[in-house]
Amino acid sequence: MKILVTGGAGFIGSNFILYWMKNHPQDKIVNLDKLTYAGNLENLKEVEKNPNYKFIHGDICDGKAVGEAMEEIDIVVNFAAESHVDRSITEPAPFIMTNIVGTQILLDEAIKSKVKRFHHISTDEVYGSLELEDLNKFNERTNYNPRSPYSASKSSSDHLVRAYFTTYGLPITISNCSNNFGPYQFPEKLIPLAITNLLENKKIPVYGDGLYVRDWLYVEDHCRAVDKILQKGKVGDTYCVGGLTEDINNLSIVKKIIKILNANEEMIEFIKDRPGHDRKYAVDWSKIKNELDWEPQHSFDEWLEKTVEWYKKNSDWWKRVKTGEYQEYYNKQYGKL
Ligand code: NAD
Ligand code: DAU
Repeated sequence: MKILVTGGAGFIGSNFILYWMKNHPQDKIVNLDKLTYAGNLENLKEVEKNPNYKFIHGDICDGKAVGEAMEEIDIVVNFAAESHVDRSITEPAPFIMTNIVGTQILLDEAIKSKVKRFHHISTDEVYGSLELEDLNKFNERTNYNPRSPYSASKSSSDHLVRAYFTTYGLPITISNCSNNFGPYQFPEKLIPLAITNLLENKKIPVYGDGLYVRDWLYVEDHCRAVDKILQKGKVGDTYCVGGLTEDINNLSIVKKIIKILNANEEMIEFIKDRPGHDRKYAVDWSKIKNELDWEPQHSFDEWLEKTVEWYKKNSDWWKRVKTGEYQEYYNKQYGKL
C-alpha cells in the first residue's frame, strides 16, 4: 500500500505518519507538505531515513506538484490545512486558499490518478456551537453551521469532498474530529501554549470567562480512528470522532496544567474574548464505535500529564518553534502578556 499524506509535517499529520510506520511497516508513505509556520520536519526525524518514507516539499494548491506526488498512490489522507481559528480571524485568505482551493485540487488529481480512497480530515467545528446547558452532541446528521473563517473553510472542503463522491464516484471518507492534544502540537493552541508559557514563567492567556468547553482527544486515538476508517470504513460515509472528556472547560484545563507543574493560579490572565467564540463542542462517536469498533483509549487526565512531561523533556523542540514568526504572531495576538 502506498499512502500520500498531505500536511504530514504538522501536529496530527506527523503523529499519523509515526503511528502508521510503526503499525504498518510494510507500507510506503509520501508526505507532501508546504512547510508553513506550522510544518516541522523535526517531528519526523525518527523515520526520515526509512526507505518506505519520502518527503516532498510542495503546496496542495499546485496541481503539477500534487499530480506528481499522487503517482502510484493507493490512498490519500488529507491533513494539510491552515488550522488555527485565531489566525483565520486576523487573515482569512490563506484559509480559503489552502482549505478550499487546495482540497479541490487534490480531489481533481485524485480522480486523474484513480486513487482507491481519498480520506479527508475534518473537524467538529463545522457543526457550530452548543449552549453550555445543551446536553446534545454533534453527530454525522447534525446540520453544518460554521461560525469562523476557519470552520467555514473546513465546511466548504467537506462539501466538496462529498460532491466529488456523488458527482464523480471518487471513493471518499471523511472524519470530523474534536480537539486533539499530545506531542508536537504547535504552541499557538491552548494546551501547548499553557504548558510552554508556564515553563517559561509566563502568564497563560484565557479568553473571556474561560468557561468555554471543548471535547478533547489524545492524538494517537485520532490516528487509530483514521486507521479503522481506512481499513473498514464505508465509502461515501462520514465518521465523528471524539474523546472521553465530559464538559471540561478551558479554565479547568489550565488549572490542571498549573497543578501538574506546581505553579500558581495567579499565572492565569483573563483577556479579551475571541470574536464569535464557539461556546461548546461535544461529539457523539457512537457510529464509529458501533460500526468500526473504535473508541478512545487514552484518559484525559493521565495523558495530559504525559503531554506536560513530553513538553518538559522536549524544550529544544518548542523553544526553536517559539522564535521568529511565532514571536511576531504572539505579540500581535496577546500584546505585552
Ligand atoms: P497543523 O497546523 O499543525 O499542521 C498543518 C500542516 O499542513 C503543516 O505541516 C503545514 O505546513 C501543512 N500545510 C498547510 N498549508 C499547506 C499547503 N497549502 N500545502 C501543503 N501543506 C500545507 O494542523 P493540525 O492541528 O495537525 O491539523 C491537521 C488537520 O486536522 C487539519 O485539516 C485540521 O483542520 C484537522 N483537525 C485538527 C484538529 C486539532 O485539534 N488540531 C482537530 C480536528 C481536525
Ligand atoms: O474542535 C477541533 C478544532 O480544535 C480544530 O479543528 C482546530 O484546528 C484546532 O485548532 C482546535 O480549535 P480550537 O479553537 O478549539 O482550539 P484552540 O486551542 O485555539 O482553543 C481551545 C479553547 O481555548 C478555545 O475555547 C479558545 C481557548 N483559548 C485558546 C487560546 C489559543 C484561550 O482561552 N486562550 C488562548 O490563548
